[in-house]
Amino acid sequence: MKTITAPKTQLTKITTYLNQTLPKNAIIFLTGDLASGKTTLTKAIAKSKGLADEVTSPTFSLQQCYGEEFFHYDLYRIENSEFMKLGLFEEFEKSGWHLIEWGDSSLKELLLSAGYNIFTVTIMPYKDIRKYTIESG
Ligand SMILES: Nc1ncnc2c1ncn2[C@@H]1O[C@H](COP(=O)(O)OP(=O)(O)O)[C@@H](O)[C@H]1O
Ligand SMILES: [Mg+2]
Repeated sequence: MKTITAPKTQLTKITTYLNQTLPKNAIIFLTGDLASGKTTLTKAIAKSKGLADEVTSPTFSLQQCYGEEFFHYDLYRIENSEFMKLGLFEEFEKSGWHLIEWGDSSLKELLLSAGYNIFTVTIMPYKDIRKYTIESG
């Protein structure tokens, strides 16, 4: 487990750590309340990888794609069964990083048992700063 504290202007502290530590293929659960900074972190990571513009997936509105190997999902109010029905589960087979906002524990268990590399970044908000805790699983 690793903890990094950063204001919005110093997100390279965490993006550098993630880029140096996480494998080429990873599914990253972003945990934190509304407005904790999940989307902001996702955009910062994309930028750190030289990927600037997000594009909504032509197939799934809850999937944003940044290039060929970086995917962002916002699963707010999406049930796991619904998620399966949408066929989105197969997207995780694509190589690269998959960042998930509002992924629940049953989805995490499923992905873990399927053998994916799973990481969790938990964000604790303070006034002008965020504390990021990064752990495997
Ligand atoms: N490291 C940070 N330090 C200070 N403010 C931050 C940081 N990260 C995000 N914020 C701010 O927090 C607010 C919510 O961010 P957002 O990424 O939309 O949250 P979420 O996706 O978790 O709902 C935004 O105003 C954003 O600028
Ligand atoms: Mg968000």
